[in-house]
Amino acid sequence: QNEPTIYKGLAGVVVDRTQVSKVNPDTNSLLYRGYPVQELAAQKSFEEVAYLLWHGELPTDAELGEFEEQERSLRHLTPAVKRVIDELPMTAHPMDVVRTAVSLIGANDPDAADASPAANRAKGLRLWAQMPAIVAYDQRRRNGLEPIEPRSDLGYSANFLFMTFGEVPELVVVNAFDVSMIMYAEHSFNASTFTARVITSTMSDLHSAVTGAIGALKGPLHGGANEAVMHIFDEIGLGLGAGERAEAWLNETLAARRKVMGFGHRVYKHGDSRVPTMRTALVTLVEHYDRPDLLELYESLEAGMTKRTGILPNLDYPSGPAYNLMGFDTLTFTPIFVAARLTGWTAHIIEQTASNALIRPLSLYNGHEERHLA
Ligand code: CMC
Repeated sequence: QNEPTIYKGLAGVVVDRTQVSKVNPDTNSLLYRGYPVQELAAQKSFEEVAYLLWHGELPTDAELGEFEEQERSLRHLTPAVKRVIDELPMTAHPMDVVRTAVSLIGANDPDAADASPAANRAKGLRLWAQMPAIVAYDQRRRNGLEPIEPRSDLGYSANFLFMTFGEVPELVVVNAFDVSMIMYAEHSFNASTFTARVITSTMSDLHSAVTGAIGALKGPLHGGANEAVMHIFDEIGLGLGAGERAEAWLNETLAARRKVMGFGHRVYKHGDSRVPTMRTALVTLVEHYDRPDLLELYESLEAGMTKRTGILPNLDYPSGPAYNLMGFDTLTFTPIFVAARLTGWTAHIIEQTASNALIRPLSLYNGHEERHLA
């Protein structure tokens, strides 16, 4: 009997159709609902991109106005969510905090069991609007700072930064943050989105799907890579001689066959379509904060890695240092990714629900032959 082919890690397997985004590794391009992500980043806000992902079309001015007004009215955390976050130990990873908060919010959501597109959009919107408050609340508590309430006169990204740092940074910083949110918003059937679709395929609810997706995103082979990049930078150390130290670090790491986080991709083999835009945003920040040392390390590590392995950076490589420059704690990087990707997850949850088939693959058993109890 022929053995079935095993597609380990589902590599190369096409499991369904999607209209949300298109990744083309041959041309290094990424389209959200048909629009190149670079064009969206240059001309549209994160709110417009969220609307596009959820509704399939960009909003008119009136639709955008209403969407923004709704999002801004939903930003506050309930006392119960704050209390639960306060109860969590400081040793908990911020991704665990976000996951717990989402679970709690889900248990209290009035539409929890309604899986209609409108209800899923409403649930996604409520969750997305509260995400900056959760992430900022947790970063501030870890630093012994009082929480800051949201401001309804600010856009999503400006408010996110305001709630974290207590002031709205200059426009270049807000724009760079907004670009990162757009870049992170959606990426077809990546591990966390697929997790959300698997959970949705059992006819479970949006908050369960998002909670699972957060778990998948946390790992360093996926979203956790942006945090891991900063740990690498810390290990190598900034400042004079960073280039030489990066060389030595790479030699040791690759000789030990350890992965260099922030490099490589399952789908893109000739470079991640999102990197050039995010790298430009990083360079703007480097100039704004006058931190050429950070760019020097960034470039030496990239050059060394590419020379040795031919493996190119992915989006997490420029975004990690960008969040560092903005002042975010390293542990907060992946929760920011959650706030961005929640838009893509919600679009996929709606799509999966609309044309559902239970996702249930097969396995090839290679355990004991049949045996019997004595
Ligand atoms: N550092 C060192 N070697 C690598 C790396 C890396 N970052 N990426 C791939 N390789 C090597 C790997 O060791 C393997 O070598 P060999 O064939 O000799 O065993 C070969 O390249 C193929 O790698 P793979 O892991 O089998 O390929 P994959 O398609 O499963 O990997 C990946 C994709 C993203 C898991 C992998 O490139 C990786 O682990 N990268 C580091 C983690 C990372 O940056 N993740 C973020 C992904 S993109 C954005 C996101 O989701 O947040």
